[in-house]
Amino acid sequence: MAAEIARAVALLRAGELVAFPTETVYGLGADAANPQAVAKIFAAKERPANHPLIVHLAAAADIDDWAREIPDAAYKLATAFWPGPLTLILKRSAKVPDAVTGGQDTVGLRVPDHPLALELLSEFNGGIAAPSANRHGRISPTTAAHVHRELGETVSMVLDGGPCQVGIESTIVDLSRGAPAILRPGAITAADISRVLGVAPGEGGKDKPRVSGSLASHYAPETRLRVLGRHSLLPAVQTALAAGQRVAVIARFSRPWDATGLDWVAAPEDAKGYAFELYATLRMLDESGADLILVEAPQSTEEWQAVADRLQRAARGSGAEDET
Ligand code: TXA
Ligand code: MG
Repeated sequence: MAAEIARAVALLRAGELVAFPTETVYGLGADAANPQAVAKIFAAKERPANHPLIVHLAAAADIDDWAREIPDAAYKLATAFWPGPLTLILKRSAKVPDAVTGGQDTVGLRVPDHPLALELLSEFNGGIAAPSANRHGRISPTTAAHVHRELGETVSMVLDGGPCQVGIESTIVDLSRGAPAILRPGAITAADISRVLGVAPGEGGKDKPRVSGSLASHYAPETRLRVLGRHSLLPAVQTALAAGQRVAVIARFSRPWDATGLDWVAAPEDAKGYAFELYATLRMLDESGADLILVEAPQSTEEWQAVADRLQRAARGSGAEDET
C-alpha cells in the first residue's frame, strides 16, 4: 500500500483528484489549498459551486492552520471524537480558498478515522478537501466499486480501503455562530455531544448556513422510494404487487410471505448495523430492477435519527413523499 499512497500523494500534489476511504463514506479528494484542483471536484460531481466542502486533516492540532477564533468547544469535541465521524464548522483562516467554502466565511474540518485516510493525509502533509464521492444528490459510496460506478473515468485514482465501517456521513456541528448546532445528524449523536460540552446542541436556526446534505432531497436512488410505518407497510406491498409492480422492501423483520415480484431485505435491528448496510442495500435494490422500494420507518429515538434523516431525503429525492 505504501506505493499506492505515494502515487496518490503525487496526484494530489499535481492537482488531480483521488478518491479515498473514510470510516463514514468514500471521499473525492483534492488539495484543499489549490483552487484549480478543488474546481475539478465540482466538475466531477456536477455539484453546484456554492456547496462548501469539508477539509480533511491528519490531526486535531492542524485546526489552528485552517480556522480562526476557535472556541474551546471545538478543542473539546476534537479531543473526544477525532479521529472520527464528526465535522466541525468554524470560522475559516486566510489559508482556506473561496473554492472550498463557496465564499462562506466558515470551513468544515474533520479528522477521519480510517488508517488509509490518515496515512494519505500525513504523507500529503496538507488538507484534503473532499465531498462524498458520488454524483450530486445520489447515494454516497461505501466501497471502492461504488466510487467507480458513480464517477468512472473522472477520478484519477481510487484507494481501496474496503467497506466503510460507519456507512453514513459524519455528524456536522456548527461552532461558528455561538451556541453549538447540529446541521446534519450522524453516528455521533446530540447526547454524545452534550456529554462532552455540558450543553445540548441546537438544531441550527432559520439562518443556518448552506449544507447540501440538508437539501430536502438527497442520497436518492433512481427507483421510487417510500418510507412507511410498520402497519402500513404490508398493505402497501400487497397493493403494489396486485398492481403488477416489482417491489423491494427493507424492513427490520423477515419476509412474512413469498410472492413473485417481491424482494425482501431484512435489515439489522440496531441503528449502527443498519447504517453500515444502508447505502449498499439502496444501491443494490436500485440496480435490481424494482419499480418501488418500500422501507419500514425506523423508530423515532435519537440513535435512529441519522438513518431516519437519510431515508426521508432519499424518499424525497426519488420523487415520492414519505408518509410517516
Ligand atoms: O462523512 C463525511 O462527512 C464525508 C466524508 C468523505 O468525510 N463527506 C461528506 O461531504 O459527506 P459532502 O460534501 O458530501 O457533505 C458535506 C456537507 C455538505 O452538506 C456541505 O454543505 C457541508 O458539509 N459543509 C461543508 N462546509 C460547510 C460550511 N462551511 N458551512 C456549512 N456547511 C458546510
Ligand atoms: Mg455528499
